[in-house]
Amino acid sequence: YWSVDNCVNNKEEYPQLVEASKLLREGEVVAFPTETVYGLGANALSDTAVSKIFAAKGRPADNPLIVHISKRNQLGLLTDHVPETAELLISEFWPGPLTLIFKKKPGAVSSLVTAGLDTVAVRMPDHPIALALIDAANVPVAAPSANKSGRPSPTTADHVLDDLRGLIAGVVDGGPAGVGVESTVLDCTSPVPVILRPGGLAKEEIEKTVGQVEQDPAIQHAHSAPRSPGMKYRHYAPAAPVYLLDGDNKWIQRKIDEKRGSGLKVGILATSESAPFYSADAVSVCGSRNNLSAVAQDLYQALRSFDEYDLDLIYSEVFPVEGMGHAIMNRLEKAAGHRKITQEKP
Ligand code: TXA
Ligand code: MG
Repeated sequence: YWSVDNCVNNKEEYPQLVEASKLLREGEVVAFPTETVYGLGANALSDTAVSKIFAAKGRPADNPLIVHISKRNQLGLLTDHVPETAELLISEFWPGPLTLIFKKKPGAVSSLVTAGLDTVAVRMPDHPIALALIDAANVPVAAPSANKSGRPSPTTADHVLDDLRGLIAGVVDGGPAGVGVESTVLDCTSPVPVILRPGGLAKEEIEKTVGQVEQDPAIQHAHSAPRSPGMKYRHYAPAAPVYLLDGDNKWIQRKIDEKRGSGLKVGILATSESAPFYSADAVSVCGSRNNLSAVAQDLYQALRSFDEYDLDLIYSEVFPVEGMGHAIMNRLEKAAGHRKITQEKP
């Protein structure tokens, strides 16, 4: 009953799709590319299928999943109430990196998907493979990011396999993800929409369409209770502890030298501008300061790359909290467990 047309005519373009959609219909979990990060999909109507997602990721059961759809008319199967602000945002930004929270239609999806909440998170990914897969599977697809819980989200099929090889039925390889960080999660059930997770669609862009939006205070303050359950967990972390360093390149290099002087192996997350100035056990280049979208695109790859070096600690530069910088700094702060050292001004 789910979808109007079937896309088996995509067989030539994406041969893996036919097999992947068959696996989804059979209740297996399959990873697939989206424009943000790779997702780990399962049939959202099936308790058994959805429970395999939580098992493979080692994900806490109280952290709900996003339901992925491929057509606007599928939304009516998940919720009875689409507020006007949501309607505006959908026409402006779907398909795209924006997840919207709605009142859940009772019985619409497995209650494991929504972790027992009376709301449901829905998104339409802007990726031809994701859309074709959802169409072909002919069911709503529940999909968190396809990483082990706590690890940086995967932006390539190899990242997925590094974390989940042997634990999932397969991964459709669509090349590297374009946006690089997860979707923005926005709650439209209140009169003024609230950002629960900053992501691939910047706050400023949303405000151009619907006026001022709020941010869940828990995004900035580590100790208040977040309204998006997933935001309370440590996340996006490489194996070694991460520390944010807010200061100039020379000061950062002195910090690196101090630690290396006491025998520790140190990594530094830098940009194309600063990387040439650093000497460390691992220098990971993450985009360019002139282009925060490029930083977002490289962020998880850069964090994951440190794991090859058996480091004792990782330092990271900080970025301006504007545009994509909201999501970048949110992920870095979580990766660092909010540990930050600021250079003293003379
Ligand atoms: O870009 C993305 O959003 C990726 C791709 C695969 O679509 N997916 C993703 O899913 O990042 P996941 O599970 O890693 O993050 C989903 C976030 C979590 O923070 C979760 O707590 C929140 O969305 N969430 C899901 N349902 C919710 C609900 N009903 N109310 C509040 N937050 C919800
Ligand atoms: Mg995730």
